[in-house]
Amino acid sequence: MTQSFTIGLAGAGNVAQALGRCIEERGQRVSAVASRSHARAREAARFIGGDARPVTYEQLASDRVIIAVPDHAIVEVARHLKPVSIVLHTSGAFSGMILREQVGTAASYGSLHPLQTFPTPSDGYRTLPGCAFAVDGEPDARAWAIEIATLMEGLVLEIPSSARALYHAAAAMASNHLTATMDAAIETMVQVGIDATTARRALANLSRAALENTLRDGATAALTGPVVRGDAETVARHVEALWNSPATIQGLYRAAAGHALEIARRRGLPPEAVDAVRSSIGHAHG
Ligand SMILES: NC(=O)c1ccc[n+]([C@@H]2O[C@H](COP(=O)([O-])OP(=O)(O)OC[C@H]3O[C@@H](n4cnc5c(N)ncnc54)[C@H](OP(=O)(O)O)[C@@H]3O)[C@@H](O)[C@H]2O)c1
Repeated sequence: MTQSFTIGLAGAGNVAQALGRCIEERGQRVSAVASRSHARAREAARFIGGDARPVTYEQLASDRVIIAVPDHAIVEVARHLKPVSIVLHTSGAFSGMILREQVGTAASYGSLHPLQTFPTPSDGYRTLPGCAFAVDGEPDARAWAIEIATLMEGLVLEIPSSARALYHAAAAMASNHLTATMDAAIETMVQVGIDATTARRALANLSRAALENTLRDGATAALTGPVVRGDAETVARHVEALWNSPATIQGLYRAAAGHALEIARRRGLPPEAVDAVRSSIGHAHG
């Protein structure tokens, strides 16, 4: 069936390239990709495949546009676009309605946030199908966002505008902060005398199993370790051992242990054990 509308991508970065290639391969043709740099737009168009033309933001004349630029540049880029029928942005933290409020020239505005991490276009292209997508917006924009998510065999999440920042905070904890926690563990292993490559290998099985167990059974069932066992002395030894570690690592340990203690309390750790572990988490040096 011939597509009755043209699709343009505003932005030539990781999300634009990955999303563009997935959309193109699943049957919706991308006609143009815009960037401030012709070379970057050309490179992105090559990655996306099909007939996508490299253009500037001002030249983008597609019927429907997906804006995939840093959050702080979304409104500025949207202001450069010609009046079009649908505009979606891919930010997680903002509703599509910021474009109605701050730009207002398109017929329908919305958002399509892939709940996925895109360190490179190729990584994103590989992991995008099947992920969750937060959608919102005016009826036509929202309908197209759902159509794209469905094309990707994704899980559609309808997030109210007022809850976007909270939703995105959850996404950051599940992805960016997981990376930060892993980095803290690797850095601590390096302090022990194990090189970073070996530390990554050594922690891989442990971390994958913990994550899989948590996702499969929930945190209350999956949590193991000294906090949930009520081993207050072991926790105090951890806190003491971390004394010379960077303050951010110590803070991360205490914050995560504090939340683990909340899970342990939920699982039935007796109040006196909860108090003893809490005091170990707050344990001062010496
Ligand atoms: N990365 C992720 O893991 C991820 C996941 C889900 C959603 N998102 C969302 O997707 C959007 C794009 O993220 P991304 O990771 O694809 O970004 P990116 O790789 O940094 O690419 C950003 C693109 O926007 C263009 N751009 C236009 N105006 C800009 C300005 N004033 N400052 C900087 N760049 C500007 C860039 O430069 P040129 O115009 O010069 O080409 C580039 O093509 C963001 O809203 C982000 O929140 C990201």
